[in-house]
Amino acid sequence: MTQARHTTNNAGIPVASDDHSLTLGANGPILLQDHYLIEKNAQFNRERVPERVVHAKGGGAFGHFETTADVSRFTKAALFQPGARTEALLRFSTVAGELGSPDTWRDPRGFALKFYTEQGNYDLVGNNTPVFFLRDPIKFPDFIRSQKRRADTGRRDHDMQWDFWTLQPQTAHQVTWLMGDRGIPKTWRHQNGYGSHTYLWENAAGEKSWVKYHFKTDQGIENLTSEEAARIAGEDADAHRADLWHAIERGEFPSWTLHVQVMPYADAATYRFNPFDLTKVWPHGDYPLIEVGRLVLDRNPADYFAEIEQAAFEPTNLVPGIGASPDKMLVGRMFSYPDAHRYRIGANYNELPVNRPKSPVRSYSKDGAMRFANAVDPVYAPNSYGGPHASAAAAGEVTTTYGVEDEAVRAAYRLHAEDDDFGQAGTLIREVMDEAQRERLVRTVVAHASNGVSEPVLERVFGYWRSIDKETGDKIAAAFGK
Ligand code: NDP
Ligand code: HEM
Repeated sequence: MTQARHTTNNAGIPVASDDHSLTLGANGPILLQDHYLIEKNAQFNRERVPERVVHAKGGGAFGHFETTADVSRFTKAALFQPGARTEALLRFSTVAGELGSPDTWRDPRGFALKFYTEQGNYDLVGNNTPVFFLRDPIKFPDFIRSQKRRADTGRRDHDMQWDFWTLQPQTAHQVTWLMGDRGIPKTWRHQNGYGSHTYLWENAAGEKSWVKYHFKTDQGIENLTSEEAARIAGEDADAHRADLWHAIERGEFPSWTLHVQVMPYADAATYRFNPFDLTKVWPHGDYPLIEVGRLVLDRNPADYFAEIEQAAFEPTNLVPGIGASPDKMLVGRMFSYPDAHRYRIGANYNELPVNRPKSPVRSYSKDGAMRFANAVDPVYAPNSYGGPHASAAAAGEVTTTYGVEDEAVRAAYRLHAEDDDFGQAGTLIREVMDEAQRERLVRTVVAHASNGVSEPVLERVFGYWRSIDKETGDKIAAAFGK
């Protein structure tokens, strides 16, 4: 932060007082000539941008990603070539709460990465869970509204949450995850990050593979119990922000090891689960983890508003060698994020230092609010004055026509052999959790559903859990005397 010798106004002109407005005599009226008073208060009235409609509360830090292994047989992306080192920003967040909400509420955590690569910005906007509540973007606003405040009471409402979840069994896997131990990480450092969606990688020979990203915490997984989280929420709503900031200040730089699961392109047709369904994982036994590299955070932001609040992540930012998959949620998100940034920050959000690529920008977009430099001149293509030319070879765009049919339909995904809503959620309970974790899961669900959930929603809660795992459902029902 620069420390000026004397105060100036926004035009750099020295001002006479930090303490007193200009008045006609000590007790007299304030004069309109005091343009500094006006500037200061007018600026104050405008110092917020709208908070993110979801993931409003968060924090982050800068660092780098280093590719330590050789995955060039799968992707030609420059940042994943052996030895490549790329500057990065990582923002963590909760989903449903507002800007001032406690860091320790039970919720998935955002794990949003921006890699400033030599081929432009690559954003991987994931969560700390490998799956999501939904598989079609048309349901995203409905889902989020069931988590936000009611119109009448102005409060969040567990009845709405269970109403939506039980009416939409596709939520079962993520809800099981959320009600389990990992639903409240101890800190942002003690959790994994996942790209969640399936993406497409392409190597230099043009061969394509499907890929899923897993950032495993090198700090170890640690979680909070509901009771610990509630206590911390009351004591320090910013506990996770504080933890990250202090760890970096102490020189304890948190890191994550990136692994990928790689599925051969042709396997997608016959795999036992639909590989694009965001409510499903690919079991490790089917597609083992392959190490790629290491992400380290070593620099705190100097200005939270400029560098974190105005950071703009977008799943649209894919660099050559990396493409989208037919995952409908991912495609839906490709609209939502740049649209949100244009509304929330403004059309030229990519001009801000935190969002600006570190590679040259030669785009033909022009002007608009707060533009401070057009990238090229003249701003039309083609032109006779040395303007840039688009190049398919340089773009290396990775596209897929996988699953494309010529009929426009509104339909659920085609089911693969083992696709259903409850199977993998049941596996999580029976095969991954131990007895103590299962007990805590039951206690967490019972406490959550005891808070304002009414019939007939409550009855559906028992059926929902019995479908995931009969024993778990019976225990939850028994706690309600059912
Ligand atoms: P594995 O036994 O190979 O993997 C289970 C994974 O579950 C672990 O690797 C760990 O993920 C994660 N895990 C451990 N405890 C919990 C918990 N309390 N809550 C959530 N996740 C936990 O089994 P499979 O790959 O066959 O998957 C079995 C089930 O495990 C899935 O149905 C899914 O619910 C869950 N899972 C699977 C993941 C995957 O990508 N295959 C990833 C995460 C969960 P990690 O190693 O990433 O820490
Ligand atoms: C933030 C939409 C699904 C992770 C946001 C924002 C919107 C949005 C509008 C606010 C953006 C901003 O103002 O900066 C959607 C839609 C989804 C969806 C429409 C489904 C169709 C997901 C999924 C994940 C995810 C599946 C993770 C796998 C995030 C994260 C942020 C975010 C991490 C915060 C990014 C940051 O730190 O700035 N989402 N989202 N979202 N979303 Fe989603």
